[in-house]
Amino acid sequence: MSRRRQIYEGKAKILYEGPEPGTIIQYFKDDATAFNNQKKGTINGKGVLNNRISEHIFTRLGHIGVPHHFIRRLNMREQLVRQVEIVPIEIVVRNVAAGSLTKRLGVEEGTPLPRTLIEYCYKDDALGDPLIAEEHIACFGWASQDEMNEIADMAIRVNDFMCGLFAGINIRLIDFKLEFGRIWDGDYSRLLLADEISPDGCRLWDMESDEKLDKDRFRRDMGGEVEAYQEVARRLGLLPEGTANEVLDLEQHRKKRGK
Ligand code: TMP
Ligand code: ASP
Repeated sequence: MSRRRQIYEGKAKILYEGPEPGTIIQYFKDDATAFNNQKKGTINGKGVLNNRISEHIFTRLGHIGVPHHFIRRLNMREQLVRQVEIVPIEIVVRNVAAGSLTKRLGVEEGTPLPRTLIEYCYKDDALGDPLIAEEHIACFGWASQDEMNEIADMAIRVNDFMCGLFAGINIRLIDFKLEFGRIWDGDYSRLLLADEISPDGCRLWDMESDEKLDKDRFRRDMGGEVEAYQEVARRLGLLPEGTANEVLDLEQHRKKRGK
C-alpha cells in the first residue's frame, strides 16, 4: 500500500491520494497525542476501532440527512472519503462541563450545562489551536457568516443525534469536536462533515458509573484505553460480527486478562 502518494500525516491519521479524483484515503494510526502534541503515545488497536466507530457514526448521520465525506471502509484501518477543503476551525460541542472548559472557567467537571455550548478553535498546531470568538472567523476569512450559520446548525443536529445514539447504549455524550470541509462545484461550495468521530475526539461517560470511555484515559494516565474504546465499539454493536483479526485479538487479550 506504500505505492500511494501520501498527502498529509496528522497526529492520528495519514491521508493518501484516493483511487478516483476527488477522493482520499484516511489511514487510522494507533498514535495518540494530547495537549497539543506535548504528550505522545500509542494505543494498540485504536486505529482499527476508530475506523469502525467513525464509519458507523458518519453512516448513521447520513441516514438523517447530515452531509458528510465518508464513502466506504476499505479495510481495517482505512476508509475512502471525499476530498474536501478543510475549514480551519475545530467546532467543540459541549453538553456537560469537562476538560479545558473547567480549567478556563473554574466550573466543576461533570456540571450539566443549561444549554448546549458551541466553541470554536483555530486549527493551527503551532499556535496550539487557540480558542477564538465567532467574530474572528469572518474577520480573518476562515469561513463566511453563512457557512458558520450552517456549521452551527449541523453541529446541533449532530449533537442531538449523537446524544440519543449514545444514551441508547448507556453512554453520556459530554462533549466532542467536529470538523467540516468544502467541496467546490465551479464558484459554489457545499459543506460536508469531515475528519472523524471517535473516542479520540469525544468525551463519553458510562451513564451509571461515570467511567470514562474516551481519550481522557490516555490524557490523564488512567490506563485501559483500548478496553474503553472497545467497550464503545461493543456497545454500538460493532464488535460481535467483527471477523477482523486485530479486533478479535484484542478481545481475546482482554478475556485472558479476565476483564
Ligand atoms: P477540550 O476540553 O480539551 O477543549 O476538548 C473538548 C472536546 O473536544 C473533547 O471531547 C476533545 C475534543 N478535542 C479534540 O478532539 N481535539 C482538539 O484539538 C481539542 C482541543 C478538543
Ligand atoms: N488532539 C489534540 C492533541 O493531540 C488535543 C487533545 O486531544 O487533547 O494535542
